[in-house]
Formats: sequence, C-alpha cells, structure tokens
Amino acid sequence: METTDEATTGRAVLDPAALERMLAGSWEVRSLRPERATIAAAPPSAGSPDTTVERAVDAAAIESAIAGLGDGLAEAWRERNYDEREFPALAEEALIRAAAHRAWDVKTLTAWLMSSNRVPRQVSAPQFGQPPITLYIGHKFYIEALVWRDGTTAIHQHSFNGAFTVLQGSSLHSQYGFDESDRVCEQLLFGRLTWRSSQILRPGDVHRILPGTAYIHSLFHLEHPSVTLVVRSYTAAGPQYEYFAPGIAADPFHDPQPLKVRLRALEALDAIDPEAFRRTAASLLAEADLWTVWRVLRATAERGAHHPGLLEPARRRHGGPRVDALLAAVTGRVRQLQIARLRQTIRNPEHRFFLALLLNVPDREEILTLIGREHPGIDPADRAVSWLSEIAATGALNLTITPVALATLRMALEKATFADVVATFEQVIPTGEVEERRSLLRQVWDEIHGLPLLSALTAEASARDGRR
Ligand SMILES: [Fe+2]
Repeated sequence: METTDEATTGRAVLDPAALERMLAGSWEVRSLRPERATIAAAPPSAGSPDTTVERAVDAAAIESAIAGLGDGLAEAWRERNYDEREFPALAEEALIRAAAHRAWDVKTLTAWLMSSNRVPRQVSAPQFGQPPITLYIGHKFYIEALVWRDGTTAIHQHSFNGAFTVLQGSSLHSQYGFDESDRVCEQLLFGRLTWRSSQILRPGDVHRILPGTAYIHSLFHLEHPSVTLVVRSYTAAGPQYEYFAPGIAADPFHDPQPLKVRLRALEALDAIDPEAFRRTAASLLAEADLWTVWRVLRATAERGAHHPGLLEPARRRHGGPRVDALLAAVTGRVRQLQIARLRQTIRNPEHRFFLALLLNVPDREEILTLIGREHPGIDPADRAVSWLSEIAATGALNLTITPVALATLRMALEKATFADVVATFEQVIPTGEVEERRSLLRQVWDEIHGLPLLSALTAEASARDGRR
C-alpha cells in the first residue's frame, strides 16, 4: 500500500483530456464499500455470442480417429519397451499428428459417446472434468477428453506422464517452480513457489506432461466450454502435490481416517454451535500434527468461517513461522476461490482472461505485458480499467466503482503515489474541490490497494521476492 505522505507534492500522471474523458463529467467520490465486497451470485453475463460453427457430426469418424490415435501410440510405445521416459515425447508426437482439434469438440464427442458401442470403462473421478470422458484404454496408458465449463485447476504437479492438447476453447496456462526448504512429511512441504510464465493455449497447442516438479502448472479456462484431450500413463510416482502461494505443497489425495470424519464433524459443529466448535478445534489443535492443522485451517477458511485465536495452540506447538506460512497459503486459497466463483457468473472470454491474469500472474508489469501481447492496439492499462468497469457493471463485484475510482486505479497503474493522484485530479477539478474530498479520495485509494481481487494488479514486480 502507498505510504507516501499526503502532503507531498505530486506529479500529474494522466493527460488532462484523457482524465476528463474518464470522469465524463462525474466528480463523485464514493467509497467502494469494501464491507460489501463479497462475490455476489449475479446471473451469468451474456458475454460474446456463440460463434462456433456447427460441425457435421460423424460419430463413426470420431470412433475411427480415437482408435487410430490410441492404437498408433500403443504400438509406438511397445516399440520402445514401454520406457516411461519416452512416453511424453511419443504422446506429444501422436497428438500433433492426430490434430484432433480439427474435428473433435464437445458436440462431436458427445455424439460419439451417445452412439458408440465401444465406450470404454471410465477411469477418472467425476471431479476431474465437467465431465471427464475416457475415450481409449491402452496398455499402461489411457486417453480422455476433459470438458470444462467453469473449472479451474489448482497449481499442481502430476504423478504420471504424457501430453495434452486443447480441442476447443482456450486457457491461460501458467507454469511455476517450487524450491522446497522445510519438509514436514511427505504430504506437506514448505518452500517457495515462483511464477515462471503464462501464455494462452489455443486449439491444436500441445504440451508434454512430465512427472514431479519438472512440470508444475495451472489452467484457467477462458471459454465456455473448453475441452482438452489428455494422453496419460497410469504410473503413480509420488504425491501429486497441489501448491499454494507463497510456499506450501500439499498432497490433495492424502485424506486419512479418522481425520476425514473429524473434519466433517467439526464442520457440522461450526454450523450448529460456533463456540463449541472453537473449544473443540482448539483442543484438537493443541495436540495435533501439522497436517491436521493445515486441514482444519483450510476447511475453516474455505467455508468462510472466522475464528480469531484458533491457531494459538498450534503456534505454540509448531512455531509461529510454520503456522504463519499455512495461514498465508490459506489466505491465497480463499482469494482463488473468490475469483473462481466470480468466474462462474462471467462468460465473456475477455473478462475471463482478465480474471485469469488477476489470479495467476503475480504483478502489474507482467499482467500489462500479457494484456498488450494478446490485445494489441490499446494501452493495456486502459484495457484493464475498461474490463474492470465492464465486470463491475454486471453487479458481480458488489462494489461501487465510480468514474473517480476507475481514474484512481488507472493512475495507480502508472505507479502513481497518492500525491500524484491529487495533482492529476487538480488538473481538471478546481483545487479547492479536490482538497475538500481529499480524505474520501484517500479512502478510495486505500480501498483499491486493499482489494484482494486487485492485489496482483497493484503489486510491484520489485516487491516480489525471487521471481526470476
Ligand atoms: Fe495438469
């Protein structure tokens, strides 16, 4: 947050004509009302019209192509004696050769699914797609299509290898590194998660999937639907960690009893009698291992419950730094869920792209670079402010975004100080009027910098440790 002394003389950071256009005659300074800054369950926005060209559905051709892809890969891998190290390259090559995005989409695959007599046993759990559809089962590998409507993948690694391609729609694909510094147990690691890159994947793009930390990634699907085709081995080599910034790796499949049922009982108790929950959870956490602390903390935060002081027993037992690291990870997780819920109400791919950047890209400089790359022709900062204005207009943000607030945000994107904001407004608004509203303007400035939704956009690259 900007700490510059309010009395400091600022510099104008926007052209007066541009500022006047933004204000459009409105000099109303209002709080964004952060106390209501929850994500509203607004109806889905209309978004862009569906421009998908209707394809003639030929289920028999899809069946033949699935068999061709699967049988060809099975043969190629057998020739390499099923060497796991060879599989990602073979899978990538097979997907490039098949170019399945030219004919396969949600409609053609559904038509095949409804009519084929050769639908294989379904492998993936229902939550790994909306839905996942197993297309082919080979020796030591299988092929599946994953339909995504709203889903976003957590930052994760894989316990298998293979390759995937985009069949329909597009996704923001982000890659990360993780430096482990403190291993609690196999299921919970502390370290530093670093963002490496983000790029848009489009139909026909193919990526290899490597096991372990060699390939840590996330996908934020931009269109409704997005469909990916995954060729993957069954191999289970170590935990398939999920990662949480700034630095936790946790095994999402580690869900032992009796912790599992204890968490469910605690959730029920919290709904029935929050005070009894607090006493019971505090008693559990006073003796608990760190994995249990993580799970209780995560479950409590994800259901939006607030229990100040709950972690004190854990802090005494495990030390402040470790517990604070869990707390920081959970705070990021809650922000991730809020943006994911917001996306469920938003269909416009450009708005989804903006949300994807806010969620995945760590600072303003990188966000604006990616906007400029994907949408050339307009200043990326102007584009970002326009998108925020359009999303706010749907009511989904539950925030009061006035032209003054947008102009203030636009100035923040120019690395302005609060004094700069005052000086810029004084170009077009009589100085006395700006002074009159100075404290409210300061509140708007602070609210913009305090909004979790915009935290990446208002973050300096220089403030981020160890990005490169
Ligand atoms: Fe993945």
